[in-house]
Amino acid sequence: MSTPISSVFDLEARARKRLPAVIFDYVHGGAGMELTLQRNQDDLCALALRQHDMRDVSHRQMSVKMVGEPATIPLAIGPTGLAGLTWANGEVEAAKAAEHFGVPFCLSTMSICSIEDVADATSRPFWFQLYLMKEHKVNESLIRRAHEAGCSALILTLDLHVQGKRWADARNGLSVPPRLTLHNTWDILSHPRWLVGMARSKRRTFGNLQGELKQAKNLSALTQWIESQFDPSFDLDTVKWVRKIWDRKLILKGIMHVDDARLAVDIGADAIIVSNHGGRQLDGAPSSISVLPEIVEAVGDRIEVFFDGGIRTGGDIVKAMGYGARACLSGRAWLYGLAAEGMDGVLCALHLLEQELSDCMALTGLDDVAHIDPGVVTAQPALRPPGRPGSGGPSPELRSAYR
Ligand SMILES: Cc1cc2nc3c(=O)[nH]c(=O)nc-3n(C[C@H](O)[C@H](O)[C@H](O)COP(=O)(O)O)c2cc1C
Repeated sequence: MSTPISSVFDLEARARKRLPAVIFDYVHGGAGMELTLQRNQDDLCALALRQHDMRDVSHRQMSVKMVGEPATIPLAIGPTGLAGLTWANGEVEAAKAAEHFGVPFCLSTMSICSIEDVADATSRPFWFQLYLMKEHKVNESLIRRAHEAGCSALILTLDLHVQGKRWADARNGLSVPPRLTLHNTWDILSHPRWLVGMARSKRRTFGNLQGELKQAKNLSALTQWIESQFDPSFDLDTVKWVRKIWDRKLILKGIMHVDDARLAVDIGADAIIVSNHGGRQLDGAPSSISVLPEIVEAVGDRIEVFFDGGIRTGGDIVKAMGYGARACLSGRAWLYGLAAEGMDGVLCALHLLEQELSDCMALTGLDDVAHIDPGVVTAQPALRPPGRPGSGGPSPELRSAYR
């Protein structure tokens, strides 16, 4: 790497430089006015960590188990669609980084590399994330393929039965492959490193779904079919059906309500992820950190509670665990690393988070992540004015019009 990288934000800056805007905005942005996206980070920032001294913290134990799976630090690589458009064979590179570092990796239904590509390139069992499609035979087929590939857990995402509107993506004409307008063409041509990388990539379409739909003769037919497949009718019975046919660990993702958390326990899920999809679905939803304590209070003694939304530093992991999460998942932090430097970039993101977690534990007087408790965090007034610089979302004029 040319210039030193000292935080995930440096990886973000590098990703912004390397990617065409249409791809960077897809990774970086959120739904609507990006209120929830902002809240995720602002509310984590507003929690303060209690410094605690005069304890021997020369050895810090940071490993945990997530649904029985060992994790070197309390973090898993969360599912993100189209990661393989940020770097050639991106999901395979990220899975290899996760295996090397020792954290679980979850492959998205909407990945570019397929379940089988990742299974062939790795030896550690990975997790598969499922979006339920209207066509049940596709769901069945994906579940069967994940089982055959040895996936040890299925993450069922509950919060994408309709797709959140991301204004930047609509403005940019994001599609697979990106729609070529004059502006996009110029944008893409002015990022030759990315373009050359993509030319080397094994796949450039939805690797898991490509073979599922025989009648989709070309990429745009496949994209249209996928867009028509998100299923607003799926309900508790559908989730029970998944529980019945998937006999390994089941994790429900997108839990933001205590009632939903209780249902997850009732149907026999092994874990839940408190998540608002990184602010990409219901704009105006609360931050995931703000609802975490009530969900942990309601079900934390009966099911593993994981957290995502806004994790950018090791301190954020401590805060989420202080609020009761057993472990966290990361979306954008590892994606920025992948987009910046491929497998090395994902490893860099993981090492940065590990080092920050270790330092944060030392300064808060903790020698074991198992000892992180609510006493380590305290609420403080927000630090920053709202509004993320350089966001791909609403323009400043639009933002101020709404204030
Ligand atoms: C570019 C992008 C694509 C995503 N795709 C998926 C997906 O395919 N399935 C899913 O369950 N969640 C998806 N998510 C949500 C993430 O799994 C995770 O919930 C979210 O990114 C956490 O917030 P963070 O990015 O602040 O860490 C995606 C997130 C991003 C940023």
